[in-house]
Amino acid sequence: MSLQDRDRALVWHPYTQMKTAAPPLPIVRGQGVYLFTEDGRRLLDGISSWWVNIHGHSHPRLNQAIAAQAKTLEHVIFAGATHEPAVDLAERLVGVLPAGLTRVFYSDNGSTAVEVAVKMAVQYWRNRGQASRQRIVALHHAYHGDTVGAMSVSEDSVFTKAFSSLLFPVDRAHPPYCYRCPVNLRRETCGIDCLDDLESRLKSGGDQIAAVLVEPMLQGAGGMIMWPREFLDGVRQLCYRHGVLMIADEVLTGFGRTGRMFACEHASVTPDIICLSKALTAGYLPLAVTAATNAVYDAFLSDDRGKTFFHGHSFTANPLACAVALASLDLIEEGDVLARIVRLERQLREGLAPLAGLPMVGEVRVLGGVAAIELVSNKATKDGGGYLDQIGPRLYSAFLQRGLLLRPLGNVLYFMPPYVVTDAEVDWVIEQIGEVLTLICT
Ligand SMILES: Cc1ncc(COP(=O)(O)O)c(C=O)c1O
Repeated sequence: MSLQDRDRALVWHPYTQMKTAAPPLPIVRGQGVYLFTEDGRRLLDGISSWWVNIHGHSHPRLNQAIAAQAKTLEHVIFAGATHEPAVDLAERLVGVLPAGLTRVFYSDNGSTAVEVAVKMAVQYWRNRGQASRQRIVALHHAYHGDTVGAMSVSEDSVFTKAFSSLLFPVDRAHPPYCYRCPVNLRRETCGIDCLDDLESRLKSGGDQIAAVLVEPMLQGAGGMIMWPREFLDGVRQLCYRHGVLMIADEVLTGFGRTGRMFACEHASVTPDIICLSKALTAGYLPLAVTAATNAVYDAFLSDDRGKTFFHGHSFTANPLACAVALASLDLIEEGDVLARIVRLERQLREGLAPLAGLPMVGEVRVLGGVAAIELVSNKATKDGGGYLDQIGPRLYSAFLQRGLLLRPLGNVLYFMPPYVVTDAEVDWVIEQIGEVLTLICT
């Protein structure tokens, strides 16, 4: 039996309608930006395997880091014990994080990083005697993960609909989705007026609000929405002014994706709490970090054991994952990766700009190593079918036939390769995108 047949008999895949989905890609090997299938195909991984891979697949240095760590300590409970990879990684992260984020709490995936951040914010206020501050303000089009808390703070969508009865209430403010401006202005002439909505929610929420949670500069699964940096700066200032915590979910944006080590750097802001995962381990192993300022951490220090942060997972701070994260940080520093992403951004911007003229292309957006093309059925009305738009699966198949793995978010096609992609490979991808969009969308 083929891998696909054996899979089909027993396995249930994420985000997959098992009745109608095509058989899964049978991947047997990865090398650099390429994935190889059982039936002999080579696919360029244009989505970094769900946005996690940054140095390419099966990188010798990363492989070596895991193998070496496995020889000494594979795992140990992290409550009441510690180990060198976790401490080394905390030291390295504090050295590169926006200044002031000095306490590192480990967990094991992006959703739990967000759950931890939300719980930390709520308990921070409780521990400080302000238990009324329990509400979170998040943004429209947000995506923060699939566990119940992470779904609650995410935008209501097809992802969360079946679970609405389980979700806690969240206040929701406008993001700066300039292509579909929520206050009907144009970026060239606006004064980031969409921020007023957040401000009025903070005013009316008063002492009920614990924190504002945002995906800085790039809202990913909600449609690859890219921000003007002034909005991010505005969020930080509003949080200061209204005395609430700011949580930055950098699960997607962390470690260079947007052209800076962390997206918060675009506006030189330090959030009170930051969430990291995905590229933290270069896409090798599940690991997450929720880092906080000393001010947040101090609120948990007490002789009263009830003020403890009661949260943990079996695989918290897994040594293998910490070891590969350290090796990934080495590669980022040695390889001048951030300069590479700035070049990639320029190439994507120049190469994709002409596609804006195609009939179904509503907008072409580029930030760092991420390019997105929002497709519409009518340019004047900007009608687009959202996540379930049939254009998504059609494009997915068309690109696969050409040896390119792209997985559109409905009507938003995006390209987010490992940073080691070459200029020639990027040119090839741009060519494929141009040809497929011309064939399918005209
Ligand atoms: C911004 C953001 N936060 C959180 C998550 C959830 O991460 P995970 O899938 O590791 O639970 C994602 C995943 O795409 C994300 O993009």
